[in-house]
Amino acid sequence: MKEKIFKKADYKQFISKDAHFTKSLTKNNLIAMGIGSIIGTGIFILPGIVAYSTSGPSITISFVLAAIVCILAAMCFAELSSTFPVAGSTYSYGSIVFGQLPGWIVGWALCLEYILGVSAVSSGFSAYFVSLFQGFGIELPKALTGPFIPSQGTIINLPSVIVLVLIYFLLRRGVQASAKMNAVMVFVKLAVIIAFIVIGLFYIKPANYHPYFPMGGLGVVKGAALVFFAYLGFDVIPSSAPEVKNPQKNIPAGIMISLAICAALYLIMASVLTGMVNYKDLNVSDPVVLALRYVGLGKIAFVITIGALAGMFTMMLNTLYGGSRLVYALGRDKMIPQRFGKLDKKANMPLLSLNAITIMAVSLGGLVSLKELTSLVNIGTLLSFTFVSLGVIKLRNRTDVPESGFHVPFYPVFPILSALLCILLMTQVSINSWIAFIGWIAVGIGIYFAYGYRQAN
Ligand code: ALA
Repeated sequence: MKEKIFKKADYKQFISKDAHFTKSLTKNNLIAMGIGSIIGTGIFILPGIVAYSTSGPSITISFVLAAIVCILAAMCFAELSSTFPVAGSTYSYGSIVFGQLPGWIVGWALCLEYILGVSAVSSGFSAYFVSLFQGFGIELPKALTGPFIPSQGTIINLPSVIVLVLIYFLLRRGVQASAKMNAVMVFVKLAVIIAFIVIGLFYIKPANYHPYFPMGGLGVVKGAALVFFAYLGFDVIPSSAPEVKNPQKNIPAGIMISLAICAALYLIMASVLTGMVNYKDLNVSDPVVLALRYVGLGKIAFVITIGALAGMFTMMLNTLYGGSRLVYALGRDKMIPQRFGKLDKKANMPLLSLNAITIMAVSLGGLVSLKELTSLVNIGTLLSFTFVSLGVIKLRNRTDVPESGFHVPFYPVFPILSALLCILLMTQVSINSWIAFIGWIAVGIGIYFAYGYRQAN
């Protein structure tokens, strides 16, 4: 049994099975994809609440700390994905370097990250959509804009369902059509963020930066564990590997450049925001809008809403895309029924996997209130980052793998530091999230022994 569950997958088989995909994505497509999935709701919602409750103005340092964790993990991703340009991202690397069961556990945790992430963002999208209409004096029916809680008068979150269905049809049209739409939306949200930064710079009051560390160093670390969410998404890039031209070079570049751009924007945005408004007044879920109203620019606040909507749209687009490729990889390896691992002949994509992941995201986003569950997304991702960091160490000890296009510098210090920082952030996640996460992993292990263990080679 031990032999089977730690059996290492043969990456050459993955590469030959994934060869049916069309290679059409360029480096610029990947950078847009990275920015598209990284900038979602996080930067528009978290800076207010986290500054108020956890870090104060030093939230900027929390953003730096979270960026360091992500950049270290991103380097490890870059090394693994350029060595193994296969679909399935962390799941596939896990099964190549650690074996079948560890790979499955990471893949299962990633499914949670993708599905919950998309569902949670789709609820956020709905909230912004409703407030955009309110801004124009139009009230959308309450029953159709909230999760299934009849006692509170809400039945279904229709905007959330509709946007996911639209994204589904866009993805069905193929990766090129989605990439074009993504590029337009990424442009919109970057323009909105940069506009806010430029305007905000004129309204900074240095007094708002005192005291800079109202909740001490621990506040900074706790804040980092929360704002970490805002950086998630770059891990979607490696899942597109079989559809990328020259993946050895373009994937590492796509990961590092998109993350660096987002990190720079986030740091500046967080410090502008906490400079404009005292952190004690930031206990709101739309801090950017609040800041504009605060300085008398409430009239242009709706522009921020449009930027946030574009941000959420691209996050959902890219994450559903990455999720469908992950489900495909699980089917490819018979960890779930093999039909999920087949490409649809006409669409040349894993249509069944896309259907499955969309149905799950729509059901959750349309009917369930997901506020409490987003921190589960963080744990799932931190676990996958830890595996990727340790995976680099396993990888360097192997002699039977090809030369990668990217090497993590300062080996083994950086991969070890990356794993330790991910574990440090995991310790800051609430106990309830841990219990739910352990429950999810236990279900995954059950499914493995009932299905994958028997069926997979
Ligand atoms: N980074 C993504 C967001 O902020 C998950 O929405």
